[in-house]
Amino acid sequence: MGNNNPVLVRGARQLITLRGSAGPRRGAALRELGIIQDGAVLIEGGTIATLGPSRRVENLSAARDAIEIDASGKIVAPGFVDSHTHLVCGPPRLADYDMRLAGSSYAEIAAAGGGILSSVRAVRETPIRKLILQARRSLGGFIRHGTTTLEAKSGYGLDETGERKTLRAIRALDGRPLDLVPTYLGAHVVPPEWRGREDAYLDWVCTYLMPKLRRRNLARFADVYCDEGAFTVAQARRYLEAARALGFDLKIHAGQFSWSGAVALAAELGAASADHLDHACDEEIRALAGSSTLGTLLPGAVFHLGLERYAPARKMIDAGVAVALATDFNPGTSPTYSMQMILALACSQMRMTPAEAFAAATVNGAHAIRSAAHCGSLEAGKDADLVMYNVPDYREIPYHFGVNLVAMTIKRGKVLYREGDVEWPED
Ligand code: NIG
Ligand code: FE
Repeated sequence: MGNNNPVLVRGARQLITLRGSAGPRRGAALRELGIIQDGAVLIEGGTIATLGPSRRVENLSAARDAIEIDASGKIVAPGFVDSHTHLVCGPPRLADYDMRLAGSSYAEIAAAGGGILSSVRAVRETPIRKLILQARRSLGGFIRHGTTTLEAKSGYGLDETGERKTLRAIRALDGRPLDLVPTYLGAHVVPPEWRGREDAYLDWVCTYLMPKLRRRNLARFADVYCDEGAFTVAQARRYLEAARALGFDLKIHAGQFSWSGAVALAAELGAASADHLDHACDEEIRALAGSSTLGTLLPGAVFHLGLERYAPARKMIDAGVAVALATDFNPGTSPTYSMQMILALACSQMRMTPAEAFAAATVNGAHAIRSAAHCGSLEAGKDADLVMYNVPDYREIPYHFGVNLVAMTIKRGKVLYREGDVEWPED
């Protein structure tokens, strides 16, 4: 099925449009999914031509020659926008996993030679061709689980060759077939060759590598990991101010393992998002609520690390923070492709409602990567990125935790994935 044939998706028990205001959704608006019962979407040239009740849309003349996809009894929703991933990251860190299950902390594992720096060693040793193959395999997983747009960070190369290789791999995969939004995470950790010279490393990043990456247009966002064992708030400010002056949009890993004050910095600098926020305090919640910065919550990392403290999502939403949800896909803290699982964690562990979780994972995810003009909701003129699920009610997505309910993933009108039938043995 090519991009050029009109496609009609019809008969959806619930068509979850997420249509609404052009800005990020907060408060009560975060719970409004814009559901059309028995809905249809007409796709032309990879974009949404129109949508509405099936009986209206299927009678349009353009719908007559369209290829038909029957969504009877199923829900159809925008593809997930996963606004925080470390897509290019090397192999799984199973030794870390063993150590953690035996009781070691994230910091102890890092000190023992595991952690982020072990992925840095792996990425540096891997040729770009192989990084692309590995990331392609991961993208297959994202597609099968209903994600159609991803942000993808560098940060496991850290030296010039490693970062450029990572960002070039992301560029090579962009649009094939998912949209990837590239982020330079130069301040992930201090690379081994700069150990003990954090500020000198940041000088080099801010005056040499970052401008060079910008000139080559290899990243749209710049991100910094601000925590114990990584960078301080003062260092994060320097990095982000330099990035902003060069024209990058900003993101920050803040409040993952401890409180650092970095959330307020994100709001002050007009960052697109502050991510993690497990240790955000009330004052920071107020600062985010009064800003345009999204609070991106990553409950997969809390779950996988076996921690107890999830981000205070309820407080944030009630205070008016525009909350997004993402996987944080990476080999150290959140090795999952499944936004469906993230929705389950958001609901059962953070007490978000299924409607809030859906909006946070689609339209607000799109805002967190400043891409809401073309993805994140089903509206005429936007990309036809949609997912059909084998359930009649959207609440069943978080309800059936750990289960992949995707029946079909469509990107710009093209079917990328169709669930295979299970072969039952004869009695
Ligand atoms: O978002 N905490 C910093 N960065 C990643 C983890 C990276 C890793 O452990 O490899 C995160 O959780
Ligand atoms: Fe992360």
